[in-house]
Amino acid sequence: MDIHIITIFPEFFEQAKDFGIFRIAIKEKLINFNIHNLRDYTTDRHKTTDDSPYGGGAGMVMKIEPVAKAIKSIEEENGPSYKILITPQGKTLNAQVTEFLSKKGSIMLIPAHYEGIDERVEKSVDMELSIGDYVLSGGEIPSLVILDATVRLIPGVLGNESSLNEESFSQLLLEYPQYTRPETFEEEKVPEVLLSGNHEKIRQWRLKESMRRTLIKRPDLLLQKEFNREELKILRELREEINKVIEDIEKG
Ligand code: ADE
Repeated sequence: MDIHIITIFPEFFEQAKDFGIFRIAIKEKLINFNIHNLRDYTTDRHKTTDDSPYGGGAGMVMKIEPVAKAIKSIEEENGPSYKILITPQGKTLNAQVTEFLSKKGSIMLIPAHYEGIDERVEKSVDMELSIGDYVLSGGEIPSLVILDATVRLIPGVLGNESSLNEESFSQLLLEYPQYTRPETFEEEKVPEVLLSGNHEKIRQWRLKESMRRTLIKRPDLLLQKEFNREELKILRELREEINKVIEDIEKG
């Protein structure tokens, strides 16, 4: 995958290239990480990328011309790219979006800064993306969040494709509880089934615990999910367990 980032903070992204998943994916030639300094696409002596808003008000607005010029020039040189404006006004990032992006041959991220980008940028991009309903000081950190979540889905990057299928959110289920040595910690024991060596029993236990957790912590996910027969059966078992607790409470 070709990744292009248009930014006024190229050093921030240069640093990210040397760490974790990005370093691995670059080394394995699974991604090309291209950082473009927005200032290189300005035409004035001061390399101005922002200006005060028409109509007045606080803050600065990113100018349209350097951004438009950067997009055009990068696409002329490298071919078309899926262009994403990073802004709190965009669609909220989720597993479906990262999966969609991970299948693109080329993506271009344009983190907005200051009070945003001139509205006329909108028709030059394919998607506006936010990482959540809160406002950060700029789109740079959100860009790295989006890239991390996307790059790890590219085949070969994690080196263990099956772990992706089992993962939280791809199945609309939270992950099951995990344990490692020691077997007993402050009198709390690892669930017996995990020590049994019975792979089928372990699989069933994990599925049930995933569903239990999701029901407690993120019931909204279950409402979006389609269930197979085994999952429906577990759902009924969990209902029985809950009913039993409620009955016990009511009995005092
Ligand atoms: N820029 C500032 N806040 C943001 C957010 N929550 N998501 C994406 N870009 C942003």
